[in-house]
Amino acid sequence: MTDHESTLHQVPETTSTELIERDHASVAATIYRYTDIAIQRGDGMYLYDFEGRKYLDFVAGIATMNVGHCHPAVVEAICDQARNLIHGACHVGYMKPYVDMIEYLKVIAPGELKNGKGLLVNSGSEAVETGIKLARYTTNRSMILAFTESFHGRSMGALALTASNTLYRHRLSSLLTGVYHTPYPYCYRCPLMHKSPETCGLACLNLVEKALETVIPPEDLAGIIVEPIAGEGGYIVPPDGFLHGLRRICDRHGALLIVDEVQTGLGRTGKMFAVQHWDVEPDIICLAKSLGGGLPLGAMLARADLVDAWPPAAQGTTFGGNPIACRAGLASLRIIQEQDLMAHASEVGNYIQNRFRKAQKVLPIFGDVRGKGLMVGVELIDADGSPAGEIIKAVIKEIGARGIALTKCGVSSLRFAPPLIITQEQATEGVDRIIELLSKYQW
Ligand SMILES: Cc1ncc(COP(=O)(O)O)c(C=O)c1O
Repeated sequence: MTDHESTLHQVPETTSTELIERDHASVAATIYRYTDIAIQRGDGMYLYDFEGRKYLDFVAGIATMNVGHCHPAVVEAICDQARNLIHGACHVGYMKPYVDMIEYLKVIAPGELKNGKGLLVNSGSEAVETGIKLARYTTNRSMILAFTESFHGRSMGALALTASNTLYRHRLSSLLTGVYHTPYPYCYRCPLMHKSPETCGLACLNLVEKALETVIPPEDLAGIIVEPIAGEGGYIVPPDGFLHGLRRICDRHGALLIVDEVQTGLGRTGKMFAVQHWDVEPDIICLAKSLGGGLPLGAMLARADLVDAWPPAAQGTTFGGNPIACRAGLASLRIIQEQDLMAHASEVGNYIQNRFRKAQKVLPIFGDVRGKGLMVGVELIDADGSPAGEIIKAVIKEIGARGIALTKCGVSSLRFAPPLIITQEQATEGVDRIIELLSKYQW
């Protein structure tokens, strides 16, 4: 054996248990795992561990695998591109998959963004960073309004906008300055104690107005960033009129509406973009997650006049817009459109919500059922109506052990974000098992 060979690390074969032990010994414990599944491979709606145990996937790689695992058309696009060009880098020259992707996004984009321009990055956080940089640069204003319950990423700029959990910010004060938060309209637990969204008069919008009278000089407001449905914060659907109200406020003050569709975008909610449920037109849209068909890819698409004002080299990235990720993403988007998976997502999503609503009538642990399309949240509550934050951790582990991959969002909501190809039979199988497990929580 040569010296070189003796230093080569041999990657061992493994069992699920061994892998988990090795992970615990070497991987940072801050990488939190919702389930104890050691994922060896994926196929369509299912994940498999190293012993061949099968798990119905209700998570889809955290809303990334919209057409399921290892879809043959996506695999083929990846292999074909890998044979031709693995990476070229957008600053070195021009790459066809990059341009194809931006053009595709323009075709499907809402409103004026159809004539927009954009660029590609590697992740949701980076897409958000890019959006707020563009807003600050083009308006020459420094302040950004964001919302509680929101998740926009973990890099230091995106983290300054994120306000779904103080854990992410602990000991990290002095983030990006000029960011101000007002409450997201989380109507099930109204931050203003109103009884119902029908009678509150969109009071959360009044707080935005109030902030613009008291802490944010309107002429300093670069933009308002919002998730059209709060994702990590609990799959919270805002009441009708909220996003329109933000649009009006931005227009009145010459600020930009930045919409974070990283989780909601590209078909998951039953429309290509969640803002299309309310016919609201953003100035800037941020995308990632399912954009790369399972590979890391993010995008920022904005009004052309804004993007044109950004001078060459003011923004950039080494890997953003990698051609393999673009090809995988385009293959996935094509399947979504060709197979009308958005209509399917609405249908199966409504079915899942209806099933849980029925169960809610008889099971006390069900607090709220909400969502759009295949973005469904089920908030679990304790006997006193408070969020069942401890119970949910055990529930998710137990559901995992029973063959269903699931995560949570917010403090105590089960998060359903399966691949958009899920059949009604698969939905029934999963929902039945989950309801059965939750029926033991009686008080
Ligand atoms: C709405 C939203 N924005 C941004 C992000 C950050 O994306 P990433 O984890 O790819 O940086 C996420 C991730 O969950 C998200 O849900």
